[in-house]
Amino acid sequence: MGSVGAKEVPVLLGPDGRRIDGRKVDELRPIAITAGPLHQADGSAFVEWGQNKVMAAVYGPREVHPRHLQENNKAIVQCRYNMAAFSVDERKRPGLDRRSQEISKVIAEAFESVIFVEEYPRTSIDVYIEVLQANAGTRCAGVVAASVALADAGIPMVDLVPAVAVGKVGDAVVLDLKKEEDNFGSADLPMALVPQSGRLVLLQMEGHLSRDELARALDLGVVGCRKIYEVMKQALRDRYRTDGPGPAAEGMAA
Ligand code: CDP
Repeated sequence: MGSVGAKEVPVLLGPDGRRIDGRKVDELRPIAITAGPLHQADGSAFVEWGQNKVMAAVYGPREVHPRHLQENNKAIVQCRYNMAAFSVDERKRPGLDRRSQEISKVIAEAFESVIFVEEYPRTSIDVYIEVLQANAGTRCAGVVAASVALADAGIPMVDLVPAVAVGKVGDAVVLDLKKEEDNFGSADLPMALVPQSGRLVLLQMEGHLSRDELARALDLGVVGCRKIYEVMKQALRDRYRTDGPGPAAEGMAA
């Protein structure tokens, strides 16, 4: 169809201030969270956020593998973020690449700072994040899914950790970038927040923002995170409603 090589840059911001998918600059993509869909894991969550579909499973606290990573005075948090080969337009080569390693590391560090790790010395808390369908913001969707999965597993934490990416398209600072905005915009800033204290536990940035734009982006991200926080809490309430779906209801039907 199109010519090979130069990609046409889409119009990211219309004259009416609307974005490529009709959203306002401060609008999130639709987000739905299911807590506890996997019965084998200690905790799990599935997040559908725009066109992202992300599953998280948590195991632990359990024995540390490999053993030499064990810490005598605290649990370690190990995270594996993985993108399925079929999750993107052009098939992704399976396995751990540098990007996945980086994302796994920053997510593990984010959770290590909110989990009460000192309560479980010599153990590991293992977080698996599988991206089944990707459309930008998957590390944030991964943090959201993992956070609900950790709560579902009963791991004591300071708070749930909502996350969202903010960025810049055209002249505008915008909330929750989708793929075209991520690819063709001028900045991408994923962040994860501890809502009660306002502490950021993950903050990365690609591209350029002025000091004012950065301040606006952080404000927008904090508001976005607080909205996502409400959806996360509701997912956990739904999971533990006595009349709700889940392993207990399934057991009764058998
Ligand atoms: O997903 P996230 O925004 O956290 O990370 P990114 O590295 O900024 O990637 C942005 C998007 O690019 C991903 O969500 C995918 O949609 C896409 N991507 C891809 O198509 N193939 C890859 N190997 C990596 C990313």
